Amino acid sequence: MNLKRFGNLSLPVIAGIAILFLLNSSCKHDGIPADQMTPVAFADVQQVYFGYCTSCHSGGNGGGSRLDFTTYEGILRTVSKGNSSNSKSYQAMINTFQIMPPKGSVPTSQRTLIRLWIDQGANPQ
Ligand code: HEC
Repeated sequence: MNLKRFGNLSLPVIAGIAILFLLNSSCKHDGIPADQMTPVAFADVQQVYFGYCTSCHSGGNGGGSRLDFTTYEGILRTVSKGNSSNSKSYQAMINTFQIMPPKGSVPTSQRTLIRLWIDQGANPQ
């Protein structure tokens, strides 16, 4: 009786430990630094801004104020080279307080592109 109870308990316990082990070993995101990944092309970055931002932020066209994301120089004003966590542009895309664009959001894959580009130094090519 006692043994049987132990037997019934041990399966979920072992399964739990196995799942924890799997989760732990399959979630190593911290591997590759941005500068060792394939460089992100500015042309691809620009696609994201044109797709999600410039309808409002193209410099003094009403809607989104003085910000102008139609040029490299304009984008750079909201970017801290090599530091996406200190870049207004990228932070605006992941903000939970005032997310950009105001309706909908930039898909994760494209936000990652922006983050990588910034962390790789925000190069114009
Ligand atoms: C539908 C219009 C619209 C779209 C699209 C949009 N924005 Fe905005 N954005 C605004 C408005 C309105 C404000 C607030 C006005 C202001 O801060 O001057 C703002 C503010 C911001 C600010 C804050 C400015 C500051 O000084 O704090 C940033 C950064 C920003 N947007 C980035 C983006 C990015 C990046 C995208 C594309 C992913 C985007 N926005 C798309 C309308 C828009």
